[in-house]
Amino acid sequence: MKILVINGPNLNMLGIREPGIYGAETYDTLLKKIKAYCGAKGVEVEFFQSNHEGGLVDAIQGAYGRMDGIVINPGAYTHTSIAILDAAKAVSLPMVEVHISDVSKREEFRQISYIRAACAKTITGHGTDGYLEAIDFLLEASHEG
Ligand code: DQA
Repeated sequence: MKILVINGPNLNMLGIREPGIYGAETYDTLLKKIKAYCGAKGVEVEFFQSNHEGGLVDAIQGAYGRMDGIVINPGAYTHTSIAILDAAKAVSLPMVEVHISDVSKREEFRQISYIRAACAKTITGHGTDGYLEAIDFLLEASHEG
């Protein structure tokens, strides 16, 4: 099974940005943690991060025919981007939405998620462990399907 992990704007700043909300773990440490987890589960993993909406759309499109599932944290584009939702619908790959913080308990403007409509599951507020839970979900779903 091949999974693409996509992170949107400012997630490359993990460890530096608002550590009280997003924790002290860096983006690099997050990738290492996911890589080790996937290695142990026999899952092939690729990573993509961009601060640009179009880059995220390209990454989703590029997964078509190549990847078996996507874990996505679109960052602030979660709350604004119809283009990212449309890309997700276009490729129609099993997808899980992840947020490090518990967006449901945050500002009003974070209560909308466009990508959610294309995701089989949303994991929010479990810190970076949420990415690992998302991988488990995709793995289990692939065995069921
Ligand atoms: C986030 C939550 C978003 O509202 C925010 O814009 C982010 C990170 C999270 O992981 O908690 O950049 O997706």
